[in-house]
Amino acid sequence: MPATVVVGAQWGDEGKGKITDILAESAAAVVRYQGGSNAGHTVVVNGEEFKLHLIPSGILHEDTLCIMAAGTIIDPVCLRDEIAGLRERGVRCDNLRVSVNAHVIMPYHRVLDGLQEEARGKSSIGTTLRGIGPTYTDKTARMPRSIRMADLQDESHLRELIQDQLAQKNAVMEQLFGHEPLDPDDVFDEVAATLDVVRPHIADVRGAIREALAGGGLVLEGAQGTFLDLDYGTYPYVTSSHPVAGGACLGTGVGPTEIDEVVAVVKAYTTRVGSGAFPTELQDEIGDGLRERGAEYGTTTGRPRRCGWLDGVALRTAAEINGATSIAITKLDVLDELDTLRIATAYRIDGEEHTRMPENLDRLAEVTAVFEELPGWRKSLSELRAWDELPDEARAYVDRMSELAGCPIHCVSVGPSRRQTIMA
Ligand code: GDP
Ligand code: IMO
Ligand code: MG
Repeated sequence: MPATVVVGAQWGDEGKGKITDILAESAAAVVRYQGGSNAGHTVVVNGEEFKLHLIPSGILHEDTLCIMAAGTIIDPVCLRDEIAGLRERGVRCDNLRVSVNAHVIMPYHRVLDGLQEEARGKSSIGTTLRGIGPTYTDKTARMPRSIRMADLQDESHLRELIQDQLAQKNAVMEQLFGHEPLDPDDVFDEVAATLDVVRPHIADVRGAIREALAGGGLVLEGAQGTFLDLDYGTYPYVTSSHPVAGGACLGTGVGPTEIDEVVAVVKAYTTRVGSGAFPTELQDEIGDGLRERGAEYGTTTGRPRRCGWLDGVALRTAAEINGATSIAITKLDVLDELDTLRIATAYRIDGEEHTRMPENLDRLAEVTAVFEELPGWRKSLSELRAWDELPDEARAYVDRMSELAGCPIHCVSVGPSRRQTIMA
């Protein structure tokens, strides 16, 4: 059984949760490789909707091990609440492990995220305010005595670390942002209150990852999307980790030669939450229609998502950056009612046409998207389950997506539910 990476090919919210849940059925383990509680992955089974922020989207399969690997960052408050919410709905979470090496999102990281966003003023990124930037910053800055999951094992040690961290964080908050200092006891109490639930899941996960690789199979679940990657996204309007498929190796310790498949998840149109360039954005009634039909409101923050036509230039670029072996196309049903569909197949920059994104994505602000028109199918797809039931126009649309990506189709999703999926 192979190791398969599930990666977002756009700006996040492509439907990675749904595709991961499907692949998890036949895998021994699902591993989240980066990001933290900024993610919001939705899985719908038998009419029940589960929104997951930290816990891998394989959790509904009791026999599949779910791992948060070293490349992720964990907010223990969020993790406790997520486990509790799942348990209330009958999902036991006994199959959940969190790496000892994952860094911890502390309450002061969340506060700093908000203060930094405020200070950015008009140039704010529109972060999820989940403390992502400040936590990864401490990690890469090698902040002495930065807190990792292993440090939650011993409460007196944790109390000392919090005191150390706050000496520095409070100085920054007060002097740079005029914010009142946080009380170390309050911070300790907030985190300590999660430990009964969180601690049993903290583990050395390397052995389990090796076992899943040796047999049973591994799904490596990305969060966010290619163009939110710190190096390959629309910097600085990005997240602070590596959602791209290469990040799966960094985040989990699985070597590049051990990855067999990379499934790039792509919506049949484009959405983006937060600030930054978006060449195919529709600020009109068609965009509003996509938002309503596609229920495009953030899973984590509830913000309306910006909507636009499919960007084939971005798709080609994402397929290359991720070494995609196939694409999983989601939300095709959202296009059901449109007479004519448009796909951007090139960018015009300084009078010249380009079929790949420029390496300097600052230039996205100057591009004019060149569109190709395709006929719509004007028929509901949501009850279709077989490839040859797809109307010719829908086939032509997904075939064009595959052509632009330069790889075959893995599956086409025609509704949020697990069963609304057509395997190619
Ligand atoms: P993720 O972050 O990539 O896992 O995606 P999200 O869960 O944030 O957003 C995808 C949304 O679309 C969720 O509400 C899903 O339930 C929903 N969804 C997924 N696939 C489909 C589909 O094929 N059709 C429709 N209509 N909704 C879908
Ligand atoms: P999933 O995994 C969509 C966006 C934020 C903001 C930028 C930086 O559900 O696809 P951050 O809080 O990470 O510092 O915010 O990234 N963003 C997402 N957009 N889906 C996500 O996750 C996102 N996670 C972060 O809106 O623009
Ligand atoms: Mg999401």
